[in-house]
Amino acid sequence: MISSMFRWTVRLAAIGALTLGAAACSDDSGAKPDAGKADTGAGSDTGGGSDTGGGGDTGGGGDSGGASGVPTDKDKLFTWLQGGSYKSWTNKESAPHSSTGPHGQVQTYINDALNTSLSGNTDHAVGAASVKELFSGANISGWAVWVKVDASSDAGGQGNGIYWYEILSTTDGSSPVASSTGAGTCVGCHSSGKDYFRTPYPLQ
Ligand code: HEC
Repeated sequence: MISSMFRWTVRLAAIGALTLGAAACSDDSGAKPDAGKADTGAGSDTGGGSDTGGGGDTGGGGDSGGASGVPTDKDKLFTWLQGGSYKSWTNKESAPHSSTGPHGQVQTYINDALNTSLSGNTDHAVGAASVKELFSGANISGWAVWVKVDASSDAGGQGNGIYWYEILSTTDGSSPVASSTGAGTCVGCHSSGKDYFRTPYPLQ
C-alpha cells in the first residue's frame, strides 16, 4: 500500500514535471529549477570520444561497481562519463528520443551483463549497468547512471542493491542530483520497472 501511494505521488510529480517540460530524470518535485534550462553543453567537449585511459577501471578496488567497471564513486564516475567509454557498449538506443517519462531527450546504453538479464528475463546480476545520456538540444547536458551492486535490489532497503547517480552538467561533477544506493528520488519511479530498469527492451 505504501509503495503504491508513493508511486501515485511520484506520478503526480511526473505530470507536474511534464507540464514544466522538465528534462531532469530526477525530477520528483516537478519544480526543478534547471528544467528546460538552455543549452549547458555549448562549447563544451562532452563525449568528445577521448579516452580517459581509465578503461573502465574503478580504481577504487571497492566492492561496488567492480564487476561492471563503472565507478560508483561520484568523482571517479564523472571523469569516467566524460571519457565516454560507455559509448563502446554495443547495446544502446540508436538515437536520442523523447523520454517515456518526464526526461526530455535521452539515449540509453546498457552493458553486456544487463543485456543478458533483460533478454533472459531474470533479475540483474551484480555488475549490470546502464548509462543514460541527457540532452539539451543537440548536446549532452548530463547523465543518469544505474549500477547493480548487490544481487538483491532490495537488500537492506528499497533499491539499495542499485547505485543511482545523476548529474546535470558535463563540466562540473561536484553537485550530482543523486549518488547513492537506494536513492530516494530515483527508486519510487523505477520500482515499477523490470528489477528497477525502465527503458523499453529490446532497446529501440
Ligand atoms: C518520474 C519518474 C522517474 C524518476 C523520478 C527517475 N526516473 Fe529514471 N527513468 C524513468 C523512466 C520512465 C525511464 C525509461 C527511459 C525514459 O523513457 O526516460 C528511466 C530511465 C532511467 C535510466 C536508464 C535505465 C533504465 O532504468 O531504463 C537511468 C540510468 C535512470 N533512469 C536513472 C535515474 C536516476 C539516477 C534517478 C534519480 C536521480 C531517476 N532515474 C529517477 C523514470 C524516472
